[in-house]
Amino acid sequence: MTHSIDFHAFRIHNDATGYRGGMETMNTDALSAGEILVKVAYSSVNYKDALAGTGKGKILRQYPLNGGVDASGVVVASADPSFKEGDHVLCTGSGLSETRDGGYGEYIRLPSQWAIALPKGLNLRESMILGTAGFTAALSLLRMEHNLQTPALGPIAVTGASGGVGMLAIDIFSRAGYAVHAISGKADHFDFLRTLGAAECIDRHQLAFSGKPMDSARFGGALDNVGGSMLAGLLPLIVPYGNVAVCGNAGGIAFDSTVMPFIIRGVSVLGIASAGTARDLRDQVWQHLASDWKPHHLDRIATREITLEQLPEVFGRMLEGDSFGRTLVRVGKV
Ligand SMILES: NC(=O)c1ccc[n+]([C@@H]2O[C@H](COP(=O)([O-])OP(=O)(O)OC[C@H]3O[C@@H](n4cnc5c(N)ncnc54)[C@H](OP(=O)(O)O)[C@@H]3O)[C@@H](O)[C@H]2O)c1
Repeated sequence: MTHSIDFHAFRIHNDATGYRGGMETMNTDALSAGEILVKVAYSSVNYKDALAGTGKGKILRQYPLNGGVDASGVVVASADPSFKEGDHVLCTGSGLSETRDGGYGEYIRLPSQWAIALPKGLNLRESMILGTAGFTAALSLLRMEHNLQTPALGPIAVTGASGGVGMLAIDIFSRAGYAVHAISGKADHFDFLRTLGAAECIDRHQLAFSGKPMDSARFGGALDNVGGSMLAGLLPLIVPYGNVAVCGNAGGIAFDSTVMPFIIRGVSVLGIASAGTARDLRDQVWQHLASDWKPHHLDRIATREITLEQLPEVFGRMLEGDSFGRTLVRVGKV
């Protein structure tokens, strides 16, 4: 490719000067390799981006890199004939801000293997309101249904319900016919969560798990963003053959449990690792997100729209557990 363009990016370094992320000017020649050069329109802020941007979690496996695990934009040049100039594409995970430059730059190079042609039914902005968070919620539903989850098994508990994955999961699971019981620490936002489709809201500060290996089953399944004692507390409450999609660790990584929910009720724990999802599954998830599982309330779930310069402020609030919905990052005009 002959394009050599100076542009702005939120770039993360870790060297003798220390760990730091901030705005700088760089050239497209310095971007990680890939067949497609994309002018980025939107990115988003995920919990992982906050960890990477602040150094509070080890996300990047090499330095320096542009942050941002999500990107959508327009192809400027392509060495792969399956993409051409002007095509709209998106990418989530797939090594962005881990092993290659991510979406927090006005340009990104993508390996064509991981670039997804924007599916009909979504625009560039909507695709990044979804981003990794929406992809993760929908991947959870897909994996649960592959393992025979149905609405008839009972309500789905969604934890961390006021966060990005949480709100999108409320909307997506209720669209797919499930009753969603939202578990959140933000009781003042329960009315809002109900407008997204939550059938019930449960205050996580009032939850008193019995600590018994088995308890009365009350959830058909769960999508857990919190981990730790929340995950341990949910497992004894799942009905026979229900599934728990384990997505996050906002509340902790270690959990104490017993084998009883698994050997007496056949409960399944499904690991969700969105960043490394295989291409065929990735395509299926995006097709659902653009059609039958497309959330009805995307504009309300996108509670904030920021520029790259405003990222540090959002990272701080997110790591304090203060998230509310999705933060969309407006990167450049396309
Ligand atoms: N596995 C994957 O592929 C994948 C993909 C995306 C995200 N994730 C993970 O999923 C989680 C959610 O991500 P996100 O982007 O939605 O983050 P987010 O927007 O910051 O939402 C996290 C939510 O978790 C709850 N929370 C925060 N701190 C907590 C604590 N100490 N104890 C209990 N609950 C707490 C809060 O919800 P309430 O106040 O409503 O309870 C918060 O809004 C993160 O752990 C993230 O790393 C995993």
